[in-house]
Amino acid sequence: MPGALSADEIRDFNTRYHDVAAHDYDSKWGIDFGDVGAAQVLAKVRRALGHEPRRYARSLEIGAGTGYFSLNLLRAGMIEQATCSDISEGMLATLRENAEHLGLAVRTERVDAEHLPFADESFDVVLGHAVLHHIPDLRRAFAEFARVLAPGGIVLFAGEPSRVGDRLARVPKRAATTLAPLWRLAIRARAARAHDGAHDGGERDAALESFVDVHAFAPGELARAARDAGLEDVRVAGEELVANWFGWANRTLEASARPEDVPWAWRQYAYRGYLLLQDVDRLLFEGRLPAAVFYNLMLSARKSRSSA
Ligand SMILES: C[S@@+](CC[C@H](N)C(=O)[O-])C[C@H]1O[C@@H](n2cnc3c(N)ncnc32)[C@H](O)[C@@H]1O
Repeated sequence: MPGALSADEIRDFNTRYHDVAAHDYDSKWGIDFGDVGAAQVLAKVRRALGHEPRRYARSLEIGAGTGYFSLNLLRAGMIEQATCSDISEGMLATLRENAEHLGLAVRTERVDAEHLPFADESFDVVLGHAVLHHIPDLRRAFAEFARVLAPGGIVLFAGEPSRVGDRLARVPKRAATTLAPLWRLAIRARAARAHDGAHDGGERDAALESFVDVHAFAPGELARAARDAGLEDVRVAGEELVANWFGWANRTLEASARPEDVPWAWRQYAYRGYLLLQDVDRLLFEGRLPAAVFYNLMLSARKSRSSA
């Protein structure tokens, strides 16, 4: 974490970086709003909760991005009314386009997770994917999640980098960086230009990527954030081991080349391989190894029914 940054700078960098990233976020991260995406998201929810989800009437997503969680959960019928919040208006604009394309109704609000403009007890579930590690003051954010949650409601977060998992993922990233020139030669791709991946003169903002991630968690830290906010039945699990190594190696290779030079067949191999290895992780490793070794941590907790 870049220690010298203030909380305001972290929020500003996150806003600007994600405003630019929104343009090609879905293709870069292989975000799917079809059956694959719905199955992925439901598997994460099941794993975070430790059981089949029930149906929730009012959901609030924090850092909703382009809609990966909420839109897939609406399609899967797990949530009925979705409020999608994010600090980046660019991400929310892409989310609205995705929702319109899918024929789904959502409410969007540009908000900072630490200051939610919603009434007390107004949601049955507060959820998010890959957002907690961007939030400067996690304690304050969890206090807000607990405040807006109705008694008996749940919080559910997935896709948060674990400290050990993050360290392990550096190995495939480094290996891919070393092998990148050979790989480009093999697929006949030219080296990436400085502005590849940026749009509308957004190179400078795209360069903020290294400043937007401010935490990688130990499982106990995530659990403590929920308990300190008064939440109960706290559960932390891990997901993605070999799928993640494969994914990071491929993304590192791809980022070294001009996007237009990366063949479609390679992208298919990378995407299908990742999905296959997600199944391998689920079958062989998740639930058997300690949460800390996985790349992603997931958390669920409940607000007491008697806290009204
Ligand atoms: C890695 S993206 C994940 C997006 C989406 N949840 C997904 O999984 O595809 C992180 C998102 O969190 C948002 N974000 C970052 N800091 C935030 C904050 N302080 N409050 C609310 N959202 C924030 C970013 O704008 C971005 O859309």
